Amino acid sequence: MKFFIDTANLAMIEEANALGVLDGVTTNPSLMAKEGISGKQNIHHHYLEICNIVDGDVSAEVLGITFEEMIKEGEELAALHPRIVVKVPMTKDGIKAIRYFSEKGIKTNCTLVFSSGQALLAAKAGATYVSPFLGRLDDISTDGLHLISEIRTIYDNYAFQTQILAASVRHSMHIINCAKIGADVVTCPLAPILSLLKHPLTDSGLDQFIKDSKKMK
Ligand code: E4P
Repeated sequence: MKFFIDTANLAMIEEANALGVLDGVTTNPSLMAKEGISGKQNIHHHYLEICNIVDGDVSAEVLGITFEEMIKEGEELAALHPRIVVKVPMTKDGIKAIRYFSEKGIKTNCTLVFSSGQALLAAKAGATYVSPFLGRLDDISTDGLHLISEIRTIYDNYAFQTQILAASVRHSMHIINCAKIGADVVTCPLAPILSLLKHPLTDSGLDQFIKDSKKMK
């Protein structure tokens, strides 16, 4: 299972990358705005900075909502760097844009997916990644993991190559459950990844080993 970090914060991306387990980055307009990035030139420059840190796919979301806007923007984004993945919202125009990009060999990430039907359409259109939003479904008392499991079954039934990118992942149990279900990728902030490190028996065991190692010197 691949680990992507879901942030546009360069320091956090560097910290995650230094762990040696990072496979890519996802961003969205809210995450970019949070870093104060605005204007086409700055946006493009920021994506290039991310690509220079991480040796993996970097999702860059189109801001336009019509087919024409998405195509223009997506082609510009894809031309920035070979590892840029054009992130396109799950709409009628978005699906048409994904088909267009797929035929041109441009990688895509279909975002804001909340149902199996939407995921099926994204795969039919040739999306490289589909992003079901796990945490946001849980937020409204709907079982986000069940959706990921349904998409896994559907994709396996027909050998769709679209990768399931579990998004809106909020904590370490989300990551573990996604791994059990067979999600291809999880994307989340740094904290849930770091919390996978933690176990109280590891801490107490290490304390004891450190104490005993002093007796060996
Ligand atoms: C996915 O690509 C989105 O950027 C992200 O995972 C959304 O997460 P959130 O629901 O925590 O905002």
